[in-house]
Amino acid sequence: MTPTPTTVTITGAGGQIGYALLFRIAAGGMLGPDRPVRLRLLEIPQGVRAAEGAALELQDCAFPLLRDVEVTEHPEVAFDGCNVALLVGARPRGPGMERADLLAANAGIFGPQGAAIAAHAAADVRVVVVGNPANTNALIARAAAPDVPDERFTALTRLDHNRAVGQLAATFDTSAASIRDVTIWGNHSATQFPDVSHATLDGTSLTAALAERLGGHDEAAAWLDDEFVPRVARRGAEIIEVRGSSSVASAANAAIDHVRDGVLGRDAADGWTSAAVVSHGEYGVPEGLVSSFPVTIDGSGYRVVEGLSLDARARARVDASVAELVAERDAVIGLGLLTP
Ligand code: NAD
Ligand code: LMR
Repeated sequence: MTPTPTTVTITGAGGQIGYALLFRIAAGGMLGPDRPVRLRLLEIPQGVRAAEGAALELQDCAFPLLRDVEVTEHPEVAFDGCNVALLVGARPRGPGMERADLLAANAGIFGPQGAAIAAHAAADVRVVVVGNPANTNALIARAAAPDVPDERFTALTRLDHNRAVGQLAATFDTSAASIRDVTIWGNHSATQFPDVSHATLDGTSLTAALAERLGGHDEAAAWLDDEFVPRVARRGAEIIEVRGSSSVASAANAAIDHVRDGVLGRDAADGWTSAAVVSHGEYGVPEGLVSSFPVTIDGSGYRVVEGLSLDARARARVDASVAELVAERDAVIGLGLLTP
């Protein structure tokens, strides 16, 4: 029997990341080779023609899994029956900006979309916010949908996670598949903490392998603090500087990884990954903030991996990133976009 199609809504579908997402989703790269999809592309008037053009191209690909594509400016149409929502539509930052500089420009988008999700989406809807500042935009969307369970709202830090794994694979001149249990903590911003203290390389301690490679534990700690952490945390800015605009294909790839793992599950042997989820107080992160954690997947979505040790250095870094999330939350309260 053919499975019921999954309705996937992509906001900002006429933009750069939208274009990098649509064809992979329609080809089965996100939900697997057996699930038909319906695509709902939400745009603002300026972006509608670009989204319509992408819809024409989707038709020209004759993807067997693609049931239909609808382009709309109306959130209630875009989210009607939605099972998976990728909230991408938002302004990207340019050179010299931090992602938090986008708060005033973008935060207003996510309350109405959260409300439309609450009113029109399917009962099993899962949402990932990509538009920046992603964690706080997810907080706003979540607050506008109080009857939708917390665990359905997430923000994307898988790109940071993949960047960290990519850096480590290059350092050890090995495959990304050899590296497990890296964690991104906190905000998708320059304060995030990419943490390798529990990571493994081919099943053994990655930090021990690093010390051996670099000639000692102090050298390994210095490399982590002075090179690895800033490299990963500032990779988005590096891409903007080198490419001239913000990451696109790697962001779309990470969003697909995030949704695929959340919906289809993840082999336990592959270890944990990172996602920004609504805190229930884990690791001292204030309840309700959307913060990145180490996560595994169970039948209903992402679950925080609990009980990991954090040394004083790690604790201070996590606290600094969480303090930034608190400041962003307070700023959107100040803008009248969130009720305290
Ligand atoms: P883009 O400018 O190419 O596309 C954005 C699209 O969103 C445009 O087509 C625009 O018309 C549309 N849009 C704006 N407001 C909208 C609304 N209210 N409803 C629906 N659509 C709307 O930008 P992009 O490169 O695709 O990036 C999109 C966002 O993703 C940016 O905020 C960027 O900073 C963010 N981003 C996040 C990550 C991450 O890891 N979380 C990575 C890369 C980019
Ligand atoms: C990224 O991490 O590449 C995106 O969030 C874009 C940006 O502004 O850095």
